Amino acid sequence: MTSLQIRPAEACDSTAIAALVRETWLSANQDLLPCDTLSNISQTGRLTNQLGGFVAGEWQSVRVAETAGQLVGAVGVNPAGVIWMLYVLPAYQGRGVGSALYNDAIGAMKQAGSRKAILEVLASNENAVAFYRARGWVPEGRRTEHIPGFRFTALRMGLARA
Ligand SMILES: CC(C)(COP(=O)(O)OP(=O)(O)OC[C@H]1O[C@@H](n2cnc3c(N)ncnc32)[C@H](O)[C@@H]1OP(=O)(O)O)[C@@H](O)C(=O)NCCC(=O)NCCS
Repeated sequence: MTSLQIRPAEACDSTAIAALVRETWLSANQDLLPCDTLSNISQTGRLTNQLGGFVAGEWQSVRVAETAGQLVGAVGVNPAGVIWMLYVLPAYQGRGVGSALYNDAIGAMKQAGSRKAILEVLASNENAVAFYRARGWVPEGRRTEHIPGFRFTALRMGLARA
């Protein structure tokens, strides 16, 4: 991969961030979704549009990974020590982009003085759970939520002395 740059997001990145979140979420979680009837497809479209729109609206706490002028990943982190999202476009996964964004987020939390970090991940997302476990995160609890057309269990994970 040509050189990877991690930088704070800017307002003009919002559209690309929303698209990245939609594509990556669908790719990571398609097994969760019910059979692909037309109504479920449109419900899923609404869900991912809402998610993409929400994340794009929070661009000020997002850092993005860019290569050759293309935005390929994003991490959302707040000073209280919450990693609230980490997404890498499917075509760029397994090439170190997620690790680079993660290290950047941990660095930002350390600078802010956070001694404890937390996040939530879909319990069914084994790749992501393994990614965090390999970096010292431990499960701390679960919650199940039901939004129209979609029921999910989120796993809360914590990391001491981030
Ligand atoms: C989880 C995720 C952020 C990791 O990003 P990535 O760029 O694939 O990660 P890296 O290339 O830095 O590799 C990290 C690890 O994943 C492993 N890996 C390799 N290919 C992989 C793949 N296709 N998918 C997932 N993990 C892979 C690597 O071997 C590496 O293992 P290690 O930490 O033991 O060395 C990314 O797969 C992703 O965006 N997934 C979908 C969205 C998601 O689940 N986000 C997290 C919850 S919000």
